[in-house]
Amino acid sequence: MMQGRFRIDALDPAGPNAERISDLFWYMMVTASVIYVIVLAVLLYAAFRRRDALRGPAVEARMERRAGVSVAIGLGVTVVVLLITLIVDFGLARTNLTTEHEQQPITIEIVAHQWWWEIHYEDSIPQRRVTTANELYLPVGQRVKVVMTSNDVIHSLWVPNLAGKRDIVPGYRTETWLQADRPGVYRGQCAEFCGHQHAKMGLTVIAVPRDAFNQWIAQQLQPAATPTDSVTLAGQQVFVNGSCALCHNITGTTASGVVGPDLTHLASRRMIGAGTLLNRRGQLAGWIVDPQGIKPGVRMPSNQLDPNELRALLAYLETLR
Ligand code: CUA
Repeated sequence: MMQGRFRIDALDPAGPNAERISDLFWYMMVTASVIYVIVLAVLLYAAFRRRDALRGPAVEARMERRAGVSVAIGLGVTVVVLLITLIVDFGLARTNLTTEHEQQPITIEIVAHQWWWEIHYEDSIPQRRVTTANELYLPVGQRVKVVMTSNDVIHSLWVPNLAGKRDIVPGYRTETWLQADRPGVYRGQCAEFCGHQHAKMGLTVIAVPRDAFNQWIAQQLQPAATPTDSVTLAGQQVFVNGSCALCHNITGTTASGVVGPDLTHLASRRMIGAGTLLNRRGQLAGWIVDPQGIKPGVRMPSNQLDPNELRALLAYLETLR
């Protein structure tokens, strides 16, 4: 289920929104190709046709009229083709952005940050609200409403296989919806230049069957794992007593920072640094010690830890499933 490569391809739609966009793309592609071929054919005909050596004023006048009619027809066809495209395009945008549907959707709130994604799964019961970061789970076949805002600058959510782009504006709420009809791991990407690490603002979207989704929610609702041995206990102390706790939250501990991603279930995520590195021990160590070397400009400072502290911290973080 969790294996396999990311999919990131707008022409390989895995949901209704992306399907409509892909259809529009092919419609425009075919229309433009046909027009291109016709224009080229007419151009070649005009360039190579035989000319009369001698032309009287009567012939000139007839040709002038014919040219006028040709231009008028060309203009008419252009206007009609553009109008149809415009109408289809507006219709598509309307359908894709409508978040009101009969089926009660799951609502996810996304807060975009430089350069990561804060994610909340809404629930009428506050204790059942799941908070995570950079990794979005979707139940296959289910419409998911996404309500977004930004914490700093303008970002844009784009999961090419699932839907079109939607800007995320500070102080303003935008909505879109996602639906994955095929299980899989899709790559999302910030699609609006938002500063130094815009390119490393990736989102992992994992579409799983309903049961697996419910399991994931239940797991995310658990408080963080409690240390069971001296090493992980030492690691937890490094976390809560050091600078980590100033920015990160781990539910069930005294660490309750809100500046960076919630790490309560860090070990359950595939990637770290918003899709920058695989979540493996070596990568995590490099990230903790020198995030500025991996993602220059990232808000996380470098951390000077002695090797024993770092080992303990890594052991602890790996228990946070
Ligand atoms: Cu966020 Cu580009």
